[in-house]
Amino acid sequence: MSLSKDLYSILMALARKKIISANWKMHITASQVLPYLTVFLSEMTVMEAVEVILIPPFTSLPKASEIVQATSHTRTLPLRLGAQNISSHEKGAFTGEIAAMMLCDLKVDCVLIGHSERRQLFGENNKIIHEKMMRAHDHHLSPILCVGETWDERSLGKEKKILEQQLREALCNLSRDQIARTIIAYEPVWAIGTGQTASLDQAEEMHSFIRGMISECSDETTAQHIRIQYGGSVTPLNAKEMLSGPNIDGALVGGASLDPHSFAEIVKHASNFST
Ligand code: PGA
Repeated sequence: MSLSKDLYSILMALARKKIISANWKMHITASQVLPYLTVFLSEMTVMEAVEVILIPPFTSLPKASEIVQATSHTRTLPLRLGAQNISSHEKGAFTGEIAAMMLCDLKVDCVLIGHSERRQLFGENNKIIHEKMMRAHDHHLSPILCVGETWDERSLGKEKKILEQQLREALCNLSRDQIARTIIAYEPVWAIGTGQTASLDQAEEMHSFIRGMISECSDETTAQHIRIQYGGSVTPLNAKEMLSGPNIDGALVGGASLDPHSFAEIVKHASNFST
């Protein structure tokens, strides 16, 4: 018996585990990691149906890694560790850069690539982003590929065109397995750190467009499996509504992740959507 495409999509949406990431940006020093995680973990009960990714700044990664390792056998909340950036180079004379193998050495297993702050403030273009994607996959790190349009691009009706270009250029030449291991974060630039979150309809439309693009770049099965997070002013107040979208598989949280209580609240909202 073959399932209709709509029913298949609904079943796949239920099967995709929500994934909530804390992008601490340039906040939370190494000595603040333990107090933060002590509070955060004390608010978590058994939640194996949600995945949480902590994305500290580089200097806080060793401490976060130590705690994630120590709690991995005792807790059922799957905690993963991510980095905020990666060098496109393997190793060598690149002062100030961080290589993929340095991240792997700290048991980091995912990495943000193409965040709009890197694109806008540090001149990262789609070519560099593609090179970083390849480097991450060479080392079996899961990239969290950030895509999103500016307000000007949206006002001109170009939001899908921009996303298409960002996705095609970042994902071209990747194998189906590599695409399947990638997490996508749709982050409209105008919603990041502004308090102006996208509406659920706007986010759903873009997430479903992204899924369609993934299907073109790989296949329908990969498109239905891949997880697409929403990012941009997610807070405990709007998380419940935002996470209710069938194509919204989680959130990439910046400002609201700096407070362990509010981040815990967002994770709890996500757990309510788990099967
Ligand atoms: P924000 O940041 O939640 O503070 O808007 C999100 C991000 O930049 O990933």
